[in-house]
Amino acid sequence: MTDSDDLRFAPDVARAVAFFRSQEAYAVSALRDITGPQGVTVWAKDETQRMGLGAFKALGAPYAIARLIDQAWQHNTGEALSSARLTDSDVRDFAASFTFVCASAGNHGMGVAVGAQAVGARARIHLARTVPEAFAQRLTALGAEVVRSGDVYDESVAAAIADTEASGATLLADGTWPGYTEIPKWVMEGYCVIAEELREVFETSGCWPTHVYLQAGVGGLAAAMAHMIRLNWAEQPELIVVEPTAAACLQASHKAGKPSRGEGPDSAMGRLDCKEPSIVAWDVLERCDVSYLSLSEEEGQSAANELSALGLATTPSGAAGYAGLMQQISRDSAARQMRPLVIVSEGPA
Ligand SMILES: Cc1ncc(COP(=O)(O)O)c(C=O)c1O
Repeated sequence: MTDSDDLRFAPDVARAVAFFRSQEAYAVSALRDITGPQGVTVWAKDETQRMGLGAFKALGAPYAIARLIDQAWQHNTGEALSSARLTDSDVRDFAASFTFVCASAGNHGMGVAVGAQAVGARARIHLARTVPEAFAQRLTALGAEVVRSGDVYDESVAAAIADTEASGATLLADGTWPGYTEIPKWVMEGYCVIAEELREVFETSGCWPTHVYLQAGVGGLAAAMAHMIRLNWAEQPELIVVEPTAAACLQASHKAGKPSRGEGPDSAMGRLDCKEPSIVAWDVLERCDVSYLSLSEEEGQSAANELSALGLATTPSGAAGYAGLMQQISRDSAARQMRPLVIVSEGPA
């Protein structure tokens, strides 16, 4: 049973913004103007360089880890930790007793490794045997322990959960399911910073997007963005959630009126290839008046090619929001009137 408190998403975005502003590696990511199909001018939020990680996920797990350490420290000592205190030796010694565990063959795993390293904690990442060794090496270079678990992603997720149950380590997933929502909500709170960066730019210029295309895997990014846009953007755009047809779990959930699997073959939009939605993300999106579209594999690839030719090198996952826009422009002759926004969510592999 999921109770409504589990689903409730009420991020403290001021806390997340303050946290990142205190981080040396943080900078507001660029908002680029590109000329899209049929000459439509598109705002592209460029996450390809974010905090040295090369993806927006740098705003998720590292922030959740800082929150978890702060929460545990406060519980023990009564002291709330400032960001500066996180680097003090007494706090790092305390954080060293924490191990953060996840299964990920991508940016979330990197975020957990980076976040744990930043506070002096340990990270253990479960990888399916099919994940290339080069990715495992990137994680170990960040001080994470890598465990090979299972043949496919779902098996590595089950192994990560079993690991935390047996070891007492902390599970740091980006998805949510009944009974497990609190930590991923902090991950999503970190993503809200992207919406705040954008709001400041649009407020200053007085020009707002008419459409925002949000690519989704489990839906954490799309839900964080949709929540913030509906909460405090002065002019309300249409919100379009974009998924691979092979993994359209949020669209399936919307149609079914309950969290549901999106079945399909493996997708080359690997970061979005999530067959199960985050229940928190699904619930947020249900309340944000979003529409859905899904992408063929070819559409994802050609959007990545097009963005790369425009000087924004990315992957089909990173380009999926733009692919959704391309699809809509090709079907709608009035599309030229729009002033759309997309998020280029990662750099090239
Ligand atoms: C580059 C990139 N874009 C988009 C997403 C989708 O984010 P979410 O799973 O929160 O929907 C991910 C998730 O890993 C990602 O790595």
